[in-house]
Parts: sequence; C-alpha cells; structure tokens
Amino acid sequence: MPSDSDASPGTASDAFVFFGATGDLAYKKIFPALQAMVARGGLDIPVIGVARAGWTVDQLRERARDSIEHNGGIDEAAFAKLASLMRYVDGDYNDAATFKQLRKTLGDARHPLHYLAIPPSLFATVVRALDASGCAKGARVVVEKPFGRDLASAQALNATLHEVFDEASIFRIDHYLGKEAVQNLLYFRFANAFLEPLWNREHVDNVQITMAEDFGVQGRGAFYDGVGAIRDVVQNHLLQVVALLAMDAPIGSDPMSIRMEKLRLFRAMRPLEPGELVRGQFRGYRDEPGVARDSDVETFAALRLHIDTWRWAGVPFYIRAGKCLPITSTQVVVDLKCPPMGIFDEAVPVHSNYFRLRLSPEVVIATGVRVKRAGDAMVGEDVELTARHQHAEEKSPYERLLGDAIRGDTGLFTSDAAVEAAWRVIDPVLRKHPAVEAYEPGSWGPASAASIIKGREGWHDPRPETGDPC
Ligand code: BG6
Repeated sequence: MPSDSDASPGTASDAFVFFGATGDLAYKKIFPALQAMVARGGLDIPVIGVARAGWTVDQLRERARDSIEHNGGIDEAAFAKLASLMRYVDGDYNDAATFKQLRKTLGDARHPLHYLAIPPSLFATVVRALDASGCAKGARVVVEKPFGRDLASAQALNATLHEVFDEASIFRIDHYLGKEAVQNLLYFRFANAFLEPLWNREHVDNVQITMAEDFGVQGRGAFYDGVGAIRDVVQNHLLQVVALLAMDAPIGSDPMSIRMEKLRLFRAMRPLEPGELVRGQFRGYRDEPGVARDSDVETFAALRLHIDTWRWAGVPFYIRAGKCLPITSTQVVVDLKCPPMGIFDEAVPVHSNYFRLRLSPEVVIATGVRVKRAGDAMVGEDVELTARHQHAEEKSPYERLLGDAIRGDTGLFTSDAAVEAAWRVIDPVLRKHPAVEAYEPGSWGPASAASIIKGREGWHDPRPETGDPC
C-alpha cells in the first residue's frame, strides 16, 4: 500500500527526475519543454537525468543543448539556468546502487517527480526500485504511453503502480491532452449554448476523426513493430479525442468532474469488432531497420466505433490513423444531417452542414453552411465560417503537462479506470483482426478503408489549410 507520505495534490514537486535521459523522447520533447519552463519562470528545482550511458553531467548538458538547438532553438539565459539545475545519475535500472545514488542526489528534496520516459517493459522494475530506495516517499510518478499493451497488462501495471503510489500521485501522460486544440474541444463544446441542442443523434449523422502523418516510422521501427497504429495512437490519443467530443457536460471544470464524465463515455464505447476494422501497412515498411521482414503490424487503421448512450445511439464514429499518408494533419468532422427535403432548384446537398475541428498542425474551428448565390435562381453554394484559425500552440504539450505534473494538477492526465476502459474497447481487435493490406506511401491507405464508411459519402480527407489565421 502507498505510504502516508505521498505528495498531496496541492504540494509542488521539489525535484524533477527523468529516467531515459539519453533517449529519443528526452531529446525531442523533454529538453525543449524544460528550457521553455525555465524561460517562463516556471522551473527552479533540480533536474536530474537518469540513464545507463556512462555519461557525466556535462555530457548531459551538451545533449540538452544539441536537442534544443534542433527542436526550437536556444534561449541562452534560460539554457544557462537549466544547465545549472541539471544533475546526472548513471547506472543500470536493475542495480540498487543506481537508486541509492539517486536518493543521494535528491538531497533535501521531499517531493520529487519521477518521469518514466523509458520502455514500458522497465516501468515495474523502476517503480519497485524507487520504493525500495526511499525515492518514492512523498513522490509523484509520470508514466509515458503506451500504458500497457492490452487490458491485462494495463491492469497489471496499474496494480504495480498502486503498490507504491496513490492514484493521486500517478500521472499517466497522453500528450494529446496537452494540445491547445484538444483543450479547445472541451471549451468550445461547453462554453457555447447553441451547440448542445445539435450535439446528438437527432442532428449529427456521423463523426469522422483522421490522424494522418506524411512520414513513416522515422527510425523507430523496433519500437513501432511491437506496437502498431492501434496501440500507438488509437487506444490513447484518438479515443481521448472521442471522449472529449462525445461526453456529457461535467458539473465543473475541476479534474474530478471531467474525469468522471469521460469515464462514463469510455464505458459506453462498444468493444470493437474485427469486421469493423481495416488494417493497412505501407509498402516498404518491412524494409525499415528493426521491423520484421514478415511483419503483420499495421501502420494504418480505419475503424467504426459505436457509443451506446441515448445521445449517440446509431451515430457512427469513424476513426482513421496512418503513417505515410498524403498530409500531416489531425482533423475531426462532425457531419450534421441534411435538411429533410429540398425546396430549391437543386439537389439536396450532402455534407453541407458540419463542424470541422482541426487539431493539428493548425488549430481550426469552422462550420459549413449553405448560402444563396447571387442571381435569379434559388441555388446556393457551400461556405465555411471560421471561428478560430491559428498556427502555433502557445506552449508545447510537454511543457504544459510536465508543468501541471510538477504542480500536482491531475486534470489533463488519465485515470486508472479510464485507461483500462479504453483498452477494453480495443482489446477484442488486438486478439482477432484482419490481416494487413498493403498501401502505397502517399495514398490514403488501402482501398478497402472505404468499406468502413459504406453508405455515406466517404472519408473527408484533410486538405492543406487555406486562408489567413485569425
Ligand atoms: C506519438 C506516437 O504518441 O504521437 C507517434 O507514438 C506519433 O507515432 C505522435 O507520430 C504524433 O503526435 P504529434 O503531437 O506529433 O502529432
């Protein structure tokens, strides 16, 4: 059982420890986020990297400089401050001496935040060693995705974490929840009264979510081949987006109220059926380093999800995610039903009324309407009204989420129950699924992805954003 010395929610952490300090995630995301936090004045605690690389703290600082130069740029003043906060502990995660050294390096810190930016297979080892060495006392832990590989392993991982940490001290990170546009889903839905009467089975015909990436596995073949698109982005990022799109209004903006509504929604998602899934693999994937030559791992998935609630019964949620597609963009389209009959000199247009929520790379909220063309005839055209279009995020998701974790704010993190409920949706198709179908890089995946959306107009492929940001 967790000890009574767990950090209480209002207590800020007094040291930031990151395991996997020499790894890819630290290089691409964590160092830039740490510099940004220092620059904004939000980080003034020891930053302790842990890894088994035989490095010194100066090598870690060099790595941090290189990382930030390649991912956003150096702010000399902030970097100097960050470098002065940095410490380094070298050692094997299986060796008690590593954690003894960590406890020593923590010095007076009583509420460290331990961030596990390491392969999931090492989570249990590190968590138990933190406990045995006294480093877990009064501490919090941030756990990276993928949180398990299926429902059973997620449950086992939750049980291991709970041996050492209280649920309030466990931060399961999903960086999608730190995106400005994803938070705007919640805000846009519940800060505007006009949406609620439309946001249900009476008016919504279907919802489509596409997460397209125009690149492949970028040297992560060995990781990706053990995971695939469904585990990598559907179980977490995209089901979280569905939850925010489909949940009922929380009774307040506090973390617990939002978590409760999201959990209800996750539990109402019907477990996926193999017949409602198409899996694809881009040609050339099997030649990537680290990928099995006969790999059946999907780099593309298209699926139909059902939400069994009064609000959503009968409204399909179509989800599509893939690597090596024509564009990099994540977009939601909420298709509204057509007018009941046509009274003008034109066919009743399909897909004229919709909400389009672009989550990445731009932040866009737009709605499609029809207006009359000038002239004698009562014929019209489709027009899109834009409520928000901006390019950049103010903060990177990692800056936002790590800052929240240091302050002890769990609002944007996933609970044990929610993560298990999401695996419950995915689990059946992890065990039984159709074989992968090959697709050409730069295409929209295998042709049979169209079968998922049969009976409707087709997938709405995200296009490059036009017009000026407002
Ligand atoms: C990660 C996945 O979680 O999200 C990657 O492991 C994916 O495969 C990435 O490319 C996408 O996130 P973002 O924020 O870069 O769109």
